[in-house]
Amino acid sequence: MRERMVNQKIALPLLAQKQISLSIKSEDLIHPLISGNKFRKLKYNLIAAKKQGLDTILTFGGAYSNHIAATAYSGKLHGFKTIGVIRGEELSLKWEENPTLKLASDHGMQFKFVSRAEYRDKEKESFLKPLQHEFGAFFILPEGGTNTLAVLGCSEIVTAEDSDFNVICCSVGTGGTLSGISNATFENQRVLGFPAVKSGFLNEDICKFAQRDTWELIEDYHFGGYAKVTAELIDFINSFKAQTQIPLDPIYTGKMIYGILDLVGKDYFPPKTKILAIHTGGLQGIKGMNILLKKKNLPVLSV
Ligand SMILES: Cc1ncc(COP(=O)(O)O)c(C=O)c1O
Repeated sequence: MRERMVNQKIALPLLAQKQISLSIKSEDLIHPLISGNKFRKLKYNLIAAKKQGLDTILTFGGAYSNHIAATAYSGKLHGFKTIGVIRGEELSLKWEENPTLKLASDHGMQFKFVSRAEYRDKEKESFLKPLQHEFGAFFILPEGGTNTLAVLGCSEIVTAEDSDFNVICCSVGTGGTLSGISNATFENQRVLGFPAVKSGFLNEDICKFAQRDTWELIEDYHFGGYAKVTAELIDFINSFKAQTQIPLDPIYTGKMIYGILDLVGKDYFPPKTKILAIHTGGLQGIKGMNILLKKKNLPVLSV
């Protein structure tokens, strides 16, 4: 598994025309399943679980969750049993058709499918107690894997070789990755977060973990909300891959890079700005998204 990534400079006519330098930190290359921020978030949590003598990890996620896939795989790799509490009880009958859940199960994850109402209460004692009776003691990883240890791991995304950049961009789900990056920025660096979700609570959540005021959210590029896509976004991801050889995922990184280039086109960044975009992985989700896109008669992502 590679922990250090190179920053790949992107050559596109728009960037040259606007005198903007854009590089992508390819954290997706860490591992096909424990990729990008998932590796960073799991690292210190798995160490903590081992230290506490726990052999079971319980976590939460939706049907296409990168976090569920990464937890299953790394649990197997490091000798943990894994339990995934999955949003949507209807999935209990058809989860094998879902590539993310199938893959997680193939790596030993046991599922607990719950209704959306139950899922909302997933952190309450009344929800967790029966699970302890069923599965024994476990280490809890929150949804999306975000907690203090995950944020610490994400702060390791930024390294000395990144000190030259004026702006660091990342995609935002729970805000843990953004918080870690923001905590590690060099002087005069700004962090722009591109939410992939429509949420009024993100600012508050990020404030719990981000120790410095170096970040802001650009909320115009969620494409309708979590896992929502348009034909325009799919076409963009396919043409970006054809031009740069870099694959983007449709839920997070595709929306971020679309947003960055749209802002470049609108002169949001002054000439000579050096931008570093973090590729946080998520490529395992492409398979499941293509199944959905085919059903909707939309263009699919090239793989
Ligand atoms: C590929 C990918 N990028 C970005 C994010 C957003 O990370 P965070 O939840 O820390 O904001 C996620 C979700 O966790 C993800 O799976």
